[in-house]
Amino acid sequence: MPCRIEPAIPSPPRPATPLPAALDWIAGSLEQLRAAGLERPQRIRDGRQGGTVELDGQTLVNVGSNDYLGYAGDVRLTKAASKAACAEGFGAGASPLVSGHSRSHDRLEQAIADLLDVPAAMAFPSGFAANSATIAALVGPDDTIYSDERNHASIIDGCRLARARVHVYPHRDVAALERLIGADDASPGRRLIVTDTLFSMDGTIAPLADLCDVARRHAAMLMADEAHATGVFGPRGSGLVEETGCGDGVHVRSGTLSKALGAAGGFVAGHPDLIHWLRHAARGWVFSTAHPPAVAAAATRAIELVAAESWRRTELRAKAAAFRDRLAAAGLDLGGAEAQIVPVVAGAAEAAVALSARLTEAGFFVPAIRPPSVPRGRSLVRASLSWLHSQSDLDRLADAIATSLR
Ligand SMILES: Cc1ncc(COP(=O)(O)O)c(C=O)c1O
Repeated sequence: MPCRIEPAIPSPPRPATPLPAALDWIAGSLEQLRAAGLERPQRIRDGRQGGTVELDGQTLVNVGSNDYLGYAGDVRLTKAASKAACAEGFGAGASPLVSGHSRSHDRLEQAIADLLDVPAAMAFPSGFAANSATIAALVGPDDTIYSDERNHASIIDGCRLARARVHVYPHRDVAALERLIGADDASPGRRLIVTDTLFSMDGTIAPLADLCDVARRHAAMLMADEAHATGVFGPRGSGLVEETGCGDGVHVRSGTLSKALGAAGGFVAGHPDLIHWLRHAARGWVFSTAHPPAVAAAATRAIELVAAESWRRTELRAKAAAFRDRLAAAGLDLGGAEAQIVPVVAGAAEAAVALSARLTEAGFFVPAIRPPSVPRGRSLVRASLSWLHSQSDLDRLADAIATSLR
């Protein structure tokens, strides 16, 4: 019987307090968000999530989490975490280079390296920290970054942190990248091409083989973020680098343990010297407390399950293909989505919120995604499919989306 967290006893409503004068700009900024339809609710989830989720007291089919393989609520992860917490305590207590790097962290790093079939890996407190800290450790003010325009915020922030020159190239446009990097061929400094492999808002896939080719011809480093592809693509389940046979051309592979792996934390993997350098230079790792050993143990268990239960990713991808086909047959533009992330573009932020609300009425949680997560005018509802969904859930969802848009 899963444990249940009892709802907190509601405290008496607090009287509205005026904003201190030093913070009164916040009232205006919030008002602007409200006026633009961009204010975001904070929902409360109760219980364990799976194919369904209880949000603000309402049970809905859960098409809004990144729990692609259904491991987030899997009791085998809970047991692995409990065992490690009993043996090693809950908190890591310190940053990894001090005393925070436990036996569970070490096992996790080995398991990540084995999954990706690379010599070395390191675990970060989050995927966000893995990307932002790694980029800033690889390039600096004398260097240049080439970044896909739809890359995740953690990559964008990493570029800012690096204080390098940044060229943002149009989404998956290798010819444009080639022009930009070719024009810099005579410039000094290091060059880094960085891309998501499976784009989080679009469900599109990066042209990895072409990017490897550009990186090789222009002596650039290539970094690929597998956050949404880990566990879902590749014969071993390590992601799209493996799926496309690009292991030799991608120098830096990052990802997260928080999506298909159902745990938390991020990783970077590659050559042992790269990892050794990051252990000195990746400030988001060096100066941050290691994540709890129990979390590392749960992630390690999930990696074992990804190896043992390859049928989950095969079935997920088949369900996703059938779902996309059904929406395409209903005349919907899926913007080139090719995976388990299926966006339905609504346009204005209000239209995306209205579509999401209609789907909630039909029994589905499919979140509206608005700026700054997507460009203005390209708000969407994003269906994130999970192995846990039944084909009939997905057929009903496709019909509900088509009906709502008609
Ligand atoms: C493409 C991409 N990279 C990195 C991250 C960050 O991962 P984490 O949630 O583990 O911090 C995310 C998560 O939202 C993501 O979508």
